[in-house]
Amino acid sequence: DGEVYKYYCEGEWRKSASGKSVAIINPTTRKTQYKVQACTQEEVNKVMEIAKAAQKSWAKTPLWKRAELLHKAAAILKEHKVPIAECLVKEIAKPAKDAVTEVVRSGDLVSYTAEEGVRILGEGKFLVSDSFPGNERTKYCLTSKIPLGVILAIPPFNYPVNLAVSKIAPALIAGNSLVLKPPTQGAVAALHMVHCFHLAGFPKGLISCVTGKGSEIGDFLTMHPGVNCISFTGGDTGVAISKKAGMVPLQMELGGKDACIVLDDADLDLAAGNIVKGGFSYSGQRCTAVKVVLVMESVADTLVEKVNAKVAKLTVGPPEDDCDITPVVSESSANFIEGLVMDAKEKDATFCQPYKREGNLIWPLLLDNVRPDMRIAWEEPFGPVLPVIRINSVEEGIHHCNASNFGLQGCVFTKDINKAILISDAMETGTVQINSAPARGPDHFPFQGIKDSGIGSQGITNSINMMTKVKTTVINLP
Ligand code: G3H
Repeated sequence: DGEVYKYYCEGEWRKSASGKSVAIINPTTRKTQYKVQACTQEEVNKVMEIAKAAQKSWAKTPLWKRAELLHKAAAILKEHKVPIAECLVKEIAKPAKDAVTEVVRSGDLVSYTAEEGVRILGEGKFLVSDSFPGNERTKYCLTSKIPLGVILAIPPFNYPVNLAVSKIAPALIAGNSLVLKPPTQGAVAALHMVHCFHLAGFPKGLISCVTGKGSEIGDFLTMHPGVNCISFTGGDTGVAISKKAGMVPLQMELGGKDACIVLDDADLDLAAGNIVKGGFSYSGQRCTAVKVVLVMESVADTLVEKVNAKVAKLTVGPPEDDCDITPVVSESSANFIEGLVMDAKEKDATFCQPYKREGNLIWPLLLDNVRPDMRIAWEEPFGPVLPVIRINSVEEGIHHCNASNFGLQGCVFTKDINKAILISDAMETGTVQINSAPARGPDHFPFQGIKDSGIGSQGITNSINMMTKVKTTVINLP
């Protein structure tokens, strides 16, 4: 009906002075589903100014009170799971059940962060000077963790709620204020999530949410002198941000090409189940999706057969029907995926299923006999297309994995735990899963990528620590 969702500033919902809006296209219908405000640079300035002011008193708010508010927000978020999930279905075509799971997981994450925060921020260190050569015990050093200031959070389209709260909750418990720039696809779900924090009663200006085109306010936000830390999840944009950002801590998670190495002694049913779940859940639009299978030639035929049998059972259609495979987020994304498929076709990959696309909906596709000269061997489709590369030695698999410019996660399937550990040690990735598909969660586990996959480490505890700085006070005795 032409309504434009308002952005959130100073504890209230506002219209942008630009008078412009940004359309959110439903990936399934490919029609405008919602509109959000196209905020201006002046509005960003305002948000930064009030975020700075609000942070000062928030840092003085007792830790237990901050935790109490977060627990309240978590409960409200869970109460609102149905309408928020509906937005996720319409904005990013997330299957209905997964959309609800995302919101519930987010509530749990916020509560856990509140609990973790009161504990780890509730303790500091006490050091004495005479352990260092030449010193007497004349200096007592007290350490505590203090907030950084204003945290800028930029989550991606695939988890607009969960990857927003995974930045918001640690920032707030640690005494920071927060400016959120949600992805365009997923912005309304994010605004609704922010509303839950609003209802919980956080002080005015502590949380803000600005919407708009990345091309207009993206650089302005990330290069803004008022920002004291950037937490970003997404794609190549992260590399650009890290080059332009000032001298502020960065937390970045930027995609991956997670390999699944299958050895000849693996439980092939277990491997096949995880390959399908890991490769095709949310249509492969997860940074931790299995993005290449590296299987020993001796078991490749059997594994491919088992995977194909499971792929055949995946349901394909609209997210409202809770189908396994739903339309990918945008037409340009579908075109990019198609480009990778066509390249593999020209170079004679084996198509285990016929390639089929209707609009943004791409049917699940396993490509066997992929070789290193094919783009799909290296690039991440972020779609339901999974390449299989047959290997003749474990070393060949490790070599392919390590030749990637990404290094997020990886997994290995074998019954030999010693081999699994050696392979894990050899794989240049932030995490290796033994006998399971890559995944970020449980959300308190450390989560990090190396090389182009990211900067720093996430997970609840690491994020809280990352959004603080150590402060020391030294008592000098006479
Ligand atoms: O898309 C990137 C996410 O951090 C992956 O999270 O493993 O829970 O799907 P997930």
